[in-house]
Amino acid sequence: MMASVSYETVGRVAVVTVDNPPVNALSRVIRSGLSDAFGRFQTDESADIAVIIGAGRMLIGGADISEFGKPPQSPSLPDVILQIEQSAKPVVAAIHGMALGGGLEVALGAHYRIAAPGTRLGLPEVKLGIMPGAGGTQRMPRLVGADTALKMITSGTPVTEAEALQSGLIDQICEGVDIREAAIDYAQSLLSDNAPARPISGLPRATDSEGVIQQWRAKLQKSLRGEVAPLVAVDAVEASVQKSFAEGLKEERRLFLHLMDTPQRAGLIHAFFSERAVAKLPEISDIAPRDIARVGVIGGGTMGAGIATSAVLNGLAVTLVERDSEATDKARATIAGNLDAAVKRGKLKAEQRDAILTDALKTVTDYGALSGADLIIEAVFESMDVKKEVFAKLDEILPRGAILATNTSYLDVNEIATTTARPEDVIGLHFFSPAQVMKLLEVVVADKTAPDVVATAFALAKTLGKTAVRAGVCDGFIGNRILSHYRTAADHMVLDGASPYQIDKALTDFGFAMGPYQVSDLAGLDIGYATRQRKAADAHPRDRYPTFADALYHKGWLGQKTGHGYYLYEKGDRKGRPDPEVEQIIAQARKEAGTSPRTFSDDEIVRRYMAAMVNEGARVVDEGIAQRPLDVDVVFLYGYGFPRWRGGPMKYADMRGLDSILADIRTFAETDDHFWSPAPLLEKLVAEGRNFDSLNQR
Ligand code: 3HC
Ligand code: NAI
Repeated sequence: MMASVSYETVGRVAVVTVDNPPVNALSRVIRSGLSDAFGRFQTDESADIAVIIGAGRMLIGGADISEFGKPPQSPSLPDVILQIEQSAKPVVAAIHGMALGGGLEVALGAHYRIAAPGTRLGLPEVKLGIMPGAGGTQRMPRLVGADTALKMITSGTPVTEAEALQSGLIDQICEGVDIREAAIDYAQSLLSDNAPARPISGLPRATDSEGVIQQWRAKLQKSLRGEVAPLVAVDAVEASVQKSFAEGLKEERRLFLHLMDTPQRAGLIHAFFSERAVAKLPEISDIAPRDIARVGVIGGGTMGAGIATSAVLNGLAVTLVERDSEATDKARATIAGNLDAAVKRGKLKAEQRDAILTDALKTVTDYGALSGADLIIEAVFESMDVKKEVFAKLDEILPRGAILATNTSYLDVNEIATTTARPEDVIGLHFFSPAQVMKLLEVVVADKTAPDVVATAFALAKTLGKTAVRAGVCDGFIGNRILSHYRTAADHMVLDGASPYQIDKALTDFGFAMGPYQVSDLAGLDIGYATRQRKAADAHPRDRYPTFADALYHKGWLGQKTGHGYYLYEKGDRKGRPDPEVEQIIAQARKEAGTSPRTFSDDEIVRRYMAAMVNEGARVVDEGIAQRPLDVDVVFLYGYGFPRWRGGPMKYADMRGLDSILADIRTFAETDDHFWSPAPLLEKLVAEGRNFDSLNQR
């Protein structure tokens, strides 16, 4: 459908409708349409007041993000909004669904604002690495005060219509949901009251008497982990309290254009489009998913209980099977605790929790109770033998067509499928811990998995509010396979002289939520140990072994759960502090390995870690385990705490330059050409002068 802005009059009200599905983005056609409409309104003697409204689901979802990074085309949005604001006749914004970013800025250009129930209003620009650039940083503080404006602008989180009414952002909430009718009535009542045009730019500047601007700046400096846009937005708001409206607008423009040019903007826009692209799979584009109402979960440990929580919280009935009644009681208690936490956070009502615990959740020891389930998710111990036994049993109990999924972290889903007579119904659903919180779901498609089973997995992810990424079968799929590789690079650095604490610090400074040794302590050192044991048989004579990690494991230092891992944890403390004894154990391991320790700069640590991640990422794409580089990026953004503003590891590599990554790998290979062999795809792209993004069909 063509984007358009229409103009009609109802009585003496001009109704200007923005129509650009799906979100009425302010593309060039819409901007010039708005400009034409308001030009017409000024000379239209049959209209005394105008209403701006959006067709379809919302007023306006923002500027057109697909135009970012391209040469600007006039009219510019700030100019269009100024034109609306300078109208001598009053203008009303009729807001329903959402008014986001430039959409809310258009509403701020109007003189009156009315919103429908259920509306969300926000300035989410910082989530894209920019800030409001069409007057939002200047009008918002004048309208609602500096503190509320800073809260909305620096967090990017939208507010409800009730909050908007309270802060003065809107003037009225309409009754019922027919926003068009309500807005026309409101406009007519304004006319009867002789209400004037009321530009926000004419309001006095907000004051900063309490020093809120400095308080916000200090708070953000502590929490941002390298992200720049929110701090630049504070500068823009500061301009609004110090300068005239016209001067402030100029300063906003300057800062906005500066952010538009940053790699962070490029990274965050890549993240935005990639997280939408991962669900677009040609293999399932016209395949209907199977119906899922009843879910069975096998195993109620860390993952099973989390998966069951996620399912019941999203309206699915769950039957969870454990080995004995002690284990079922424990699983039920964990799930109840998770639901209590949801009640505390206001995500669930107490009655809903009670209903879930009595009706939706069954915890049993008898596999027979699963017979009516549409989907089973197995989350028992990470052992091929145990999993095979479980799948053979499930195959007997469940009718054909019921989906049998495994939550294995590493194991071969094809091999698991061979224990059933219906490999087409078998798939990997790899959740991340804690499963009721983490947004990533790796959908592991085995050789014989049926397309409608894949489609069902993607539909399930949507039901659970998760982002699904398709992965192929290999040891660890996309995420854990790459993790194993860069984790090994980190261990090599420890063996060669870097301390785990320096490595963690260098990587959190880079923007990771946690460093690799903090992650080990959180997950439990027993997990890494079990993985090393499993892989021992395939070890190459030139592999370097992190004996220090085994030593910690054998001491029973398993991380946070035992109060001691790489870090020491005082009671109740989850931060941990470095432990000299661990450093001694590492020194001993170096001695035994015959390495003479050297120093590492933080820069070298990051370069080695990232080179290992990107190199293995390139292999994973080349082998078809990930469909595109962007799938790798989304896995790392959602499952591994990769800094979103860097766009993901493959986007990071593109922005740094693949030749630079390859040069690093070749340099590292001079001392270890066993670990550091360049991925063929990386070499090929560099030779052809291409980047990973050239492989991203969206
Ligand atoms: N520009 C261009 N395309 C957009 C867009 C935008 N602002 N917002 C969404 N889209 C596209 C999506 O890419 C998607 O395309 P696809 O179907 O081809 O994948 C389609 O619209 C539907 O989007 P969603 O799947 O995200 O739909 P939802 O209903 O789940 O969510 C939404 C709707 C909450 C509006 C969400 O799309 C969103 O958050 N959009 C971005 C909002 C935003 O950041 N606005 C600020 C833009 S920057 C700005 O305004 C600068 C100004 O200050 C100058
Ligand atoms: P866990 O040890 O916490 O829980 C496993 C549960 O399975 C135990 O409660 C056990 O009693 C139960 N169980 C074992 N055999 C059973 C059987 N035959 N029938 C019914 N119940 C049985 O393990 P965790 O961490 O929950 O892991 C489960 C699976 O999820 C593993 O395959 C693991 O690799 C995978 N996984 C783990 C993640 C993590 O962070 N812990 C993340 C993603 C996947």
